[in-house]
Amino acid sequence: MTTPEPAKRLQALPRYLFAELERKRAEAEAAGREVIDLSIGDPDLPTPPPLLEKIAEAATNPANHKYPTSAGMPAARREIAAWFADRFGVAVDPLGECAMLIGSKEGIGHLPLAILDPGDEVLMPDPGYPVYFAGATFADATPVRYPLRESKGFLPDLEELDRLATPRTRLVWVNYPNNPTGSLATGAFYEALVAWAERRGVIIASDAAYSELYYGDAPPSILEIPAARGRAIEFHSFSKTFNMTGWRVGFAVGAPHLVGALVRLKANLDSGAPQAIQTAAAWALKGFLPTHGPALRAVYRERRDVAVEGLRKLGCPVSEPGGAFYVWGRVPDGERSIDFAERVFDHTGVMLTPGVGFGEQGEGYFRIALTGPVAAIEKALHLLEGLAPWKAPHGVASSSSR
Ligand SMILES: Cc1ncc(COP(=O)(O)O)c(C=O)c1O
Repeated sequence: MTTPEPAKRLQALPRYLFAELERKRAEAEAAGREVIDLSIGDPDLPTPPPLLEKIAEAATNPANHKYPTSAGMPAARREIAAWFADRFGVAVDPLGECAMLIGSKEGIGHLPLAILDPGDEVLMPDPGYPVYFAGATFADATPVRYPLRESKGFLPDLEELDRLATPRTRLVWVNYPNNPTGSLATGAFYEALVAWAERRGVIIASDAAYSELYYGDAPPSILEIPAARGRAIEFHSFSKTFNMTGWRVGFAVGAPHLVGALVRLKANLDSGAPQAIQTAAAWALKGFLPTHGPALRAVYRERRDVAVEGLRKLGCPVSEPGGAFYVWGRVPDGERSIDFAERVFDHTGVMLTPGVGFGEQGEGYFRIALTGPVAAIEKALHLLEGLAPWKAPHGVASSSSR
């Protein structure tokens, strides 16, 4: 009997570009070679002890052993609303405008199924987090990628968005602080985007999973723009802010009809995030972030500075990230990003992510995740120096402007 193919919607997703690198990694490790993995956006640091204590304490309460609700615990949502008011100056209704998620990826992947019909079009960034594409594809909607250009600070060009939009365009994704480029959006940009979306009748989905990882001023929420309140939904995550990727918890805040549709879909598919984890996570926003946030940002700042400075010294053009924990650099002229990543790995054991894994516009770039200690980043830079991949150094001054 032949094995049946998976569904066409699954086959429609791009080939998993990292599979070859993964295979090489397994081979190298089996051969006893040292691998320095700077490819994965998963914090190396553990979940902080105060949070673990809260989880443990909440886990002993039998009330938390039952099915959660799909929307999340009212008490947790009230804590989130209080934090949202403090952090962004935006008052949201905890029950109508806020829902807990099993990690932000769950909400991001499911949103199109909740609000789109087959044939609707979804604008999404290229390079971008692959789940926007997968979510649209699974909802039988049409993904339409818009370019993020370095010359525009990796922000969408609204005139270009306008050209790509059609009467079938229902949704646009934005993601700041941005994965993979590390760029930030300003309030002025959000204001212009919301005005554009109003004119075109488009819903905005803002992925703010990295909202608390920044190196200068705290980035805004799109919900600070009054007109966004009726047409935007924003996704937040505890994963990166609290080194909690393994605990799977996040939340969505936004227009009641969008949050409501997502919750209604969730009620049919999942039973919500475990309550002990919701309880601890929601507590952490107000009870722990004020001390933990600055300390965590200092860790990533040091790593960022070491990586950016080191790459520039090697002649690699790299723009300084303003947020998230990635550095987005240019591969040597004329080399494909996948070939570059393979060459670096074969010669040095350093794993980078080829830019093309985030979309066609990522070709010509690579991503370093700052999810390893400074010593590992320094060692990786040293190994790269031996490889001398950027043959004609561009120099610090010119590289910073690219
Ligand atoms: C841009 C972006 N959004 C969302 C997520 C999902 O995070 P989580 O599901 O852990 O909240 C990630 C994870 O890497 C990401 O990079």
